[in-house]
Amino acid sequence: MKYGIIGAMKEEISFFLESVEELTEVNKGLLSFYTGTWHGQEVVISKCGVGKVNAAMTAQILIDCFAAEAIIFTGVAGGADEQLNVEDVIVSTSCQQHDLDASPLGFARGTIPMYDGPSDFPADERLIRAAYAAASTVVGQPLKVRKGKIVSGDQFIADKKMVGELRQLFQASCIEMEGAAVAQVAHFNEVPYVVIRSISDKANGEAPESFEAFVVSAARASSKIVEEIMRQL
Ligand code: ADE
Repeated sequence: MKYGIIGAMKEEISFFLESVEELTEVNKGLLSFYTGTWHGQEVVISKCGVGKVNAAMTAQILIDCFAAEAIIFTGVAGGADEQLNVEDVIVSTSCQQHDLDASPLGFARGTIPMYDGPSDFPADERLIRAAYAAASTVVGQPLKVRKGKIVSGDQFIADKKMVGELRQLFQASCIEMEGAAVAQVAHFNEVPYVVIRSISDKANGEAPESFEAFVVSAARASSKIVEEIMRQL
């Protein structure tokens, strides 16, 4: 199976570019993709850029132009579950857009209006199991690995009240800016996906400083989990 691997920022894909074998760069418009093999698996890697539009574009290109048969998104997130600390890991059970809001028309927040399908896109069971097993192998005590719902929006959240609201509205484990877009593209293409996120901050008032301090180590921790998935598959 060919795996598309996406990270939003250079910190989230740099480990792959150092480790993947037979790495070849292919450009599509302004986006760069890297094909190669990793622990016997065929992979295509891309840095999509921050936000849902970037993530959606990249996921669709991976499927259409590189024939990716599964998508793994890796990176960092703000914790929404108060039990989570920096560098704990969340494996997505599902992803939903938290900033999609047609509530004046009577639609619940996070719901895609005027369409019959899901707005909370379930991740693939096989990939969840693989990611959870890999994370449990790689992540050492006292760090935690949890399965949970991830919410995405085109906002960096740095406000405790807002975190509480997203936790209450969506039962979110963590908050980031791309996962739900990838999930939606994967759903419409009938391609399995999973998102792995290492916590860089708690999305509260201290989030900007915490993000700066932990983005590199948390991004790398998430990348190591992807490597372990490839090894275990
Ligand atoms: N990614 C990492 N931390 C985040 C936050 N606090 N909000 C949105 N995306 C994030």
